[in-house]
Amino acid sequence: MNGTGPNRGRRKVLLGAPALFLGATISGPARALSITPPQSEGPFYPRKLPSDNDADLTVFHGERAPGEVIEMVGRLFNARGQAVSGGNIEIWHCDVNGVYAHVGRPTPPGFQGYGAVRTDTAGGYRFRTTRPGIYPGRTRHIHVKARGADGAVLTTQMYFPGEPGNARDGLLRRTRNSGALIARQEPGPPPRYVFDIVLA
Ligand SMILES: [Fe+2]
Repeated sequence: MNGTGPNRGRRKVLLGAPALFLGATISGPARALSITPPQSEGPFYPRKLPSDNDADLTVFHGERAPGEVIEMVGRLFNARGQAVSGGNIEIWHCDVNGVYAHVGRPTPPGFQGYGAVRTDTAGGYRFRTTRPGIYPGRTRHIHVKARGADGAVLTTQMYFPGEPGNARDGLLRRTRNSGALIARQEPGPPPRYVFDIVLA
């Protein structure tokens, strides 16, 4: 290697590659290549964050929420396709009956409805929660707010693949590149939904 060290040439190649290529390498094809589209926050972001707001939304103050347990996992990237560690991911969603917590209507004991985690050194995050119900006018979804370490913020929503209501959901249909908001399902148990997020 001409006395420049065995990794010199390889490092040059990586640094010289288009940034999006790096993203594709990290996260698989196509998925990480597009900026995740923003969507409205909606009216149900908690007015007051619950005292129990960890990454396991299936248990709230020692009680277990009704419904099917699922996992939501993914990685946070910046627009150059680099993993964002130390970012913050918040999610909130309705209960099995389509009711959000913190809005005055009762939700079942054990329903946490909101959680927040920091991304790890690989930009990864993981939540354990229950499959949200459906309320009138919307398909099944989970609200997401992602913050990069540099302060970039994205508010959006994650959708479930194969959901009959997806084709009828006005908000989803109006969103450009809406396919990037539909999670990829991996076999469980529990069913796992992969939702990578790319900040603008
Ligand atoms: Fe919603």
